[in-house]
Amino acid sequence: MWFFNSPNIVYGEDALDFIENITGSKCFIISDENVQKLSYLKVLTDKLEKWGRNFDLFTEVEPDPKEEMVLKAKQSCLKYKPDLIIALGGGSVIDTAKGVWAMYEYPEFGIDDLHIFNSSLYELGKKAKLIAIPTTSGTGADATYAAVISRYNDGVWQKLIQAHRGLVPTYSILDPLFPMGMPLSLTIDTGMDVLAHAMEAMVANGRNEFSNALAIKAIELVFKYLPIVYKDGKNKEARDYLHQAATMAGLAFGNANVHIGHTTGHCLGAVFQTPHGRCVGLMLKYVTQYCLNNPNKYDPSIEIYAKLAKQLGWAKWEEDDKTASYLVIKKVKELNKELGFPEKIQDLGISKEDLDQNLDTLVNLCFQDASGSMCPRLPSKEDFKNIYRYAFEGKDIDF
Ligand SMILES: [Fe+2]
Repeated sequence: MWFFNSPNIVYGEDALDFIENITGSKCFIISDENVQKLSYLKVLTDKLEKWGRNFDLFTEVEPDPKEEMVLKAKQSCLKYKPDLIIALGGGSVIDTAKGVWAMYEYPEFGIDDLHIFNSSLYELGKKAKLIAIPTTSGTGADATYAAVISRYNDGVWQKLIQAHRGLVPTYSILDPLFPMGMPLSLTIDTGMDVLAHAMEAMVANGRNEFSNALAIKAIELVFKYLPIVYKDGKNKEARDYLHQAATMAGLAFGNANVHIGHTTGHCLGAVFQTPHGRCVGLMLKYVTQYCLNNPNKYDPSIEIYAKLAKQLGWAKWEEDDKTASYLVIKKVKELNKELGFPEKIQDLGISKEDLDQNLDTLVNLCFQDASGSMCPRLPSKEDFKNIYRYAFEGKDIDF
């Protein structure tokens, strides 16, 4: 028995207008200052007013949502008693909303109760539906059942990955109006996050036929449309496809999982306060190489990535699998160059001393990160250290 979880997805121009068809008179909107500044919040509230809906706002979400802020939003939501919760923003906003939704339905729950074995969470939706409207094209949070929430622990901000299938939003509204305003660096970081989601999902231990189909399509769309958006941020068609790719990759990794690209990237981001997409996008080629180098012949990575290279026309069908699979690394490197994306850790402004001083902390955090266990090749402590060392120098993984 296996599962494939998905929200109801409405996409394309004017997708936002579909909300008129969703029943609910009191809307609790979760968003952030930036979305408010870009006037996107007004776009939504104008429509809600037009449709005769009442609403209350919580706009205090910050990047990498912290536990205290999520609990504050929970209290506001409990006070307002909505029948629709609308998340308008990027991954941080949507993750906050998932936590708030669950704790609104079950006020006795705290963050630690949002875990995979809590069967009560299958029952979400009795008090309110959750509508996710991503304004960035990256996290896929609108399609996944995980919420990343930070907690200060032992001197560092630890990212807790709270997950349960019941946390998948009821609706995902993909209106290309919103990502049109994304600045270039955010577009590239989040686009590389999409690529990392899809590529890691293809080999992660939860991979399945549904997730793989979506991952391949998302990879194809990123390679085609991210360079177009890099040159012309106002290209509507490219923005629309990238927005869809983000949700496709979200569905892929939401059902298959990510692995050590996200483990090492999460920890790098937590220790050095570097954006998520930049970290996981940077680690992608190193962890993919690490998987391809697995001496265990049962590792499926070579076969899977070889097939990907052939399906996308990067390798000839008659090419041997090992050669074809390594072409995937070559393509990722080329894409990095084309986008001016950092290729190694030192490009992030992190010094060798900083890395060395924090290497033990990074590796300890890696072992606490749940996604690490989903990798087809499980790194030892020394392997994790060497992956970081090689990624710092920009060296090909040769172990
Ligand atoms: Fe990610």
